[in-house]
Amino acid sequence: MDNKTFDDRYNVAPIIFKDWIKGRLDIADSVIFDFGCDTGVMSLGLIHHCSPKKVIGVDINDNYMNLLFEVSNRINIKKLPENLEFYVIEPQGNFSKIISKEVDCVFSWSVFEHVSQPILKQKVVDLYKILRKGGYAFIQIAPLYYSAFGSHLNMIITAPWAHLTTQLNLFQDYVFKAEKSGVYADEDDSNFEKIKASLWSLYSTLNKITSDELIKIFTSSGFTLIDKFTSCCQDTPPASLKAVYRKEVLITEQIVGLFRKNC
Ligand SMILES: C[S@@+](CC[C@H](N)C(=O)[O-])C[C@H]1O[C@@H](n2cnc3c(N)ncnc32)[C@H](O)[C@@H]1O
Repeated sequence: MDNKTFDDRYNVAPIIFKDWIKGRLDIADSVIFDFGCDTGVMSLGLIHHCSPKKVIGVDINDNYMNLLFEVSNRINIKKLPENLEFYVIEPQGNFSKIISKEVDCVFSWSVFEHVSQPILKQKVVDLYKILRKGGYAFIQIAPLYYSAFGSHLNMIITAPWAHLTTQLNLFQDYVFKAEKSGVYADEDDSNFEKIKASLWSLYSTLNKITSDELIKIFTSSGFTLIDKFTSCCQDTPPASLKAVYRKEVLITEQIVGLFRKNC
């Protein structure tokens, strides 16, 4: 993990969450459920920056297993905090096997664009079920699919909206023929080929959710939208795309939504 990615996960996102939740949740007495925790770096950042009662991180992969190794050369810790728990879950499974008591807050950062379309609604319903009445769900997605770099391939494809303007087989060629640069400059050739294959797989599995759709899925599952923030890309979409998609959808890069389960 490069230094910027580490800083974004360990510091930036947890501090943004802390600001949003301040005055709404007694965080010292709260259990936070980090849905889609991946490496667990953000879960650890939540513990260190927000001091909650507990953080439970879940994901369909077990990348959190390397957490201590991943952070040990950056922050001074010898073991992980006792109030940090991780679980691997099945994509379709609910959370009842791991949650014995309702949680106070759901946290999810850059996850909902990766949840497979057929289970998207069910995941939101499952999260609603494990949240206590009056609890919050803090949900962030960036970059949204229809935005300039919504392909998540910005490390190797530098042209904005290329994923929407380029014929699919040519776009795939551009990805697999990309030259090493930026954060990948020092990778050996075989590793770089693996990185490109994994980036293509990640791109192919994006569910194309928009900010409006995210809000609709949550509110139609019983949540109330308390607050939202959107941010836009700097680039201007080409006229050919504006003729097909609403401009607002093309330029909205990030959505942050704070939802509540009614008391
Ligand atoms: C881009 S990563 C974000 C990880 C972390 N929140 C962060 O920002 O560092 C997206 C994560 O969502 C996870 N994910 C996708 N579908 C999921 C599901 N149905 N249940 C739990 N996690 C899921 C992926 O495995 C992946 O680790």
